[in-house]
Amino acid sequence: MLSKKIEDVLNEQINAELYSAYLYVSMGAYFRSVKLNGFAAWMENQAKEEEEHAKKIYDYVNKRSGRVALKLIKEPPFEWKSPMDVFEATYVHEQEVTKSIERLTNLSDGEKDYATSSFLQWFVDEQVEEEYSVLQILERLRMIKDSNQGLLMLDAELGKRG
Ligand code: FEO
Repeated sequence: MLSKKIEDVLNEQINAELYSAYLYVSMGAYFRSVKLNGFAAWMENQAKEEEEHAKKIYDYVNKRSGRVALKLIKEPPFEWKSPMDVFEATYVHEQEVTKSIERLTNLSDGEKDYATSSFLQWFVDEQVEEEYSVLQILERLRMIKDSNQGLLMLDAELGKRG
């Protein structure tokens, strides 16, 4: 059985993961609008992963006889200045998600809820990958600067993942 406090923060994390999905769909739509379809596919794929993260927590709360409570998902931004602007924002966002997972882990450790701490370890590891993959793209964009050719090459590369 989950404590009320842990149940609440896990529900908040479900909301945060669903917001991440929403944010990345919005970023995907931005990339579609500027015809960078490879970047768009990458973001859409990222959004799907975020939905899976939310579902993992949903399943865990249910398994521990908690009660999932869905909250309002805030509206994501609509416009960005450039692909670099999008990835700067993505990197900041993922760092915030990492902090939120760390706060959760601290809380479950503090409550000696070892099952939740163990469950959260997957997310701790996943955040290392998430931050790494976003930073790789951001650094490539910094190298590319204003080269359209470089941007189109990266777009083609990212499209292969999506
Ligand atoms: Fe579910 Fe990108 O963190």
